[in-house]
Amino acid sequence: VDKDGTRVFDLRMRAGTTEFKDGVKTPTWGFNGSYLGPTLRAARDERVRVRIRNDLAEASTVHWHGMHLPARMDGGPHQMIAPGAAWSPHWTVDQPAATLWYHPHPHGSTARHVARGLAGLFLVDDKESGRLPLPKRYGVDDLPLVVQDVRFDGAKLDTGRGFLQNVGFLGDRTMVNGTLNPYQEVHDTHIRLRLLNASTARTYAFGFPDGRAFSLIATDGGLLERPTSMERVRLSPGERAEIVVRMRAGERVTLRSFPPDDYGDAWQRRFSGGDDTFDVLELRAADRLRPSPRLPAVLGRLEIPDGEEGAVRGRHFDLKRSGINGREMAMGRVDETVTRGTTEVWTVRNGNGMPHNFHVHDVQFRVLEVDGEKPPPALRGPKDTVFLPDGTTMRLALRFDGPADPETPYMYHCHLLYHEDEGMMGQFVVV
Ligand code: C2O
Ligand code: CU
Ligand code: CU
Repeated sequence: VDKDGTRVFDLRMRAGTTEFKDGVKTPTWGFNGSYLGPTLRAARDERVRVRIRNDLAEASTVHWHGMHLPARMDGGPHQMIAPGAAWSPHWTVDQPAATLWYHPHPHGSTARHVARGLAGLFLVDDKESGRLPLPKRYGVDDLPLVVQDVRFDGAKLDTGRGFLQNVGFLGDRTMVNGTLNPYQEVHDTHIRLRLLNASTARTYAFGFPDGRAFSLIATDGGLLERPTSMERVRLSPGERAEIVVRMRAGERVTLRSFPPDDYGDAWQRRFSGGDDTFDVLELRAADRLRPSPRLPAVLGRLEIPDGEEGAVRGRHFDLKRSGINGREMAMGRVDETVTRGTTEVWTVRNGNGMPHNFHVHDVQFRVLEVDGEKPPPALRGPKDTVFLPDGTTMRLALRFDGPADPETPYMYHCHLLYHEDEGMMGQFVVV
């Protein structure tokens, strides 16, 4: 924290090597270290500044995924940092406690930059959630899990896409926080897992082989109103979920990713990774566990628009691999102009014969409907990214209450990064 109370972080984007396997040095990129980046953490109402230096041999950006902040600070493709240059975005944290993340966003190269290792978590805290009896000891009973699928080609990370893999790169194994075959010893009866799907293309459905239920407590933008018991949580690229798992003394249980339900027809599943199973993380419980407090029945009140009431306008987004609403991303074209302080309802449709998702910068939105029905429990919290299997239509309520900036656009896009890089992205300004 500097003398005027701003929380300052330093990030250096660098190339290096990482020993994922003993004695094998893999070329990777990272923030500060050689792979991934430090977890940044700040509280609501705090002023933050991140001093970023790009020590890579090519230009990149750093985007704050899920953060509500001025467009100039967003780190999208218009805020490029040249090799050797620095960039110091600053803003005041103005949103509820949540598990957010940061990653590069250079137009056309995002998948490659993320797959080489440029990603990290940004946790937001607030007073209300700080008072709840939730597991909150970082690395002890509150575990951040950055999940990625990888494939090794000798010492190298292979990020090539198979010929029929129209979602992008799919790996043959997973890592958590840059670690292969990970396990974690735990000493408490309740373990909170902050799951981030940091993969470039793969969708996971997390659960446990013994079918035990866990409590979903938060989605992309923060806490649900109340914990919801479930056995599987599906996360497409960019999405987050916080779950609380109950442990028994002395047991070992593996967090697994199962073939996601409703991922498309057999053809799509086969070539889009929809039939795969991965053991993600083994939890090893100590022989004696500290009893955790009961989960609260109520977590908080959602600060996301409740939709129809007061919505000034609707927009439609048709998702196609060739572009959104029939247009490929163009850096010089603003696709949508939104009025600050208003709520809108966006209808997003995927009828493209393959899975897509949809991410909007700057806001946390509410899912009003999925195919005309009330959303399932996992879509009732604050969201910034939603998965749309082929044939899905969603209605979203979004409120744009940041500062106006007619010059600098925010992005909306498919977060299957290969699609985003190909041009499945558009730009909006808030005026
Ligand atoms: Cu996670 Cu536009 O990005
Ligand atoms: Cu984003
Ligand atoms: Cu897509």
